[in-house]
Amino acid sequence: MAARPVVLVTRMIPEAGLALLRQRCDLRLGPDDRPMTREELLAGAAEAKWVLGQLVDRIDAAFFDAAPRLRGYANYAVGFDNIDVAEATRRGIPVCNTPDVLTVATAEMAWALVFAVARRVAETDTLLRRGIWPAWGPFTFLGQEITGKTLGIYGPGRIGTAMARMSRGFSMPVVYTGGRRPNEALEKELGARRLPFEEFLEAADIVSIHAPLTPETRHAFDAAAFARMKPTAILVNTGRGPIVDEAALTAALAAGRIAGAGLDVFEVEAPLPESLTSLQNIVITPHIGSATQTARDGMATLAARNLLAMLTGGRPPSCLNPEVLEPGA
Ligand code: DGY
Repeated sequence: MAARPVVLVTRMIPEAGLALLRQRCDLRLGPDDRPMTREELLAGAAEAKWVLGQLVDRIDAAFFDAAPRLRGYANYAVGFDNIDVAEATRRGIPVCNTPDVLTVATAEMAWALVFAVARRVAETDTLLRRGIWPAWGPFTFLGQEITGKTLGIYGPGRIGTAMARMSRGFSMPVVYTGGRRPNEALEKELGARRLPFEEFLEAADIVSIHAPLTPETRHAFDAAAFARMKPTAILVNTGRGPIVDEAALTAALAAGRIAGAGLDVFEVEAPLPESLTSLQNIVITPHIGSATQTARDGMATLAARNLLAMLTGGRPPSCLNPEVLEPGA
């Protein structure tokens, strides 16, 4: 009997995906409470033909060198800035990601941050937990209404489009920027206007970041960008931290250059600098945009389906470099 393929799963994922994999493969499971260290990852890669990894696993030339038998890699994330796709392609290794299944969860999270910032939810929650009850007053904790404000989508892909569609109940004009071509769905359904970046910054009341992290988007939101935004603007980032120059954002928020920010992602996702956490006009969450059971089950299932397709010579549902697949796969 042919040996069952072995899959390295670098960190425990929901059973929905593991159960699918177990039907055909033996699993080597990484830790359930933390990502693998770089050393663990490279050591685990030594014998691996098939790897299902996390967005913090760096899948780069050094990883490929450490994994001479690697035949395919499935990312448990839609974002793939952790993968050197060009290098994988050069080596003929297919790499996959998990789009669509987390679109709703992440778009809803962006809205959660918009409202939390606009209505000062976290700031007042913290006071009450500290035993401070600020009496009701005509001027206490005034926030902003969102209805009728202009929503700005930076990166009109799946999640940005979903977030924009969700704005319908709030009668918001929508502007957007980026994307390789105009987003016809947004333009037809919502009358959204595609603007050059600078005009976009000037027009939007809420700026929500949904672009992938690339050399072009890294630090797109810098001091010059904040200087163009409205002083009443709210910035929300559920995409990738390094799209925002965090030092420039901290300075803009401290100076009241923009009104507030809701951040789910950060330049370095480790303990955050006090200069940022001491600001009152931000709401911060620890990269939980896709953290719903539905989305995580979907991610686990899709990552498993990608992997199973690769190892049976089929066509993975979401391959980032399909040109390396066998013809007819
Ligand atoms: C992704 O999938 O890229 C998110 O950042 C985490 O779910």
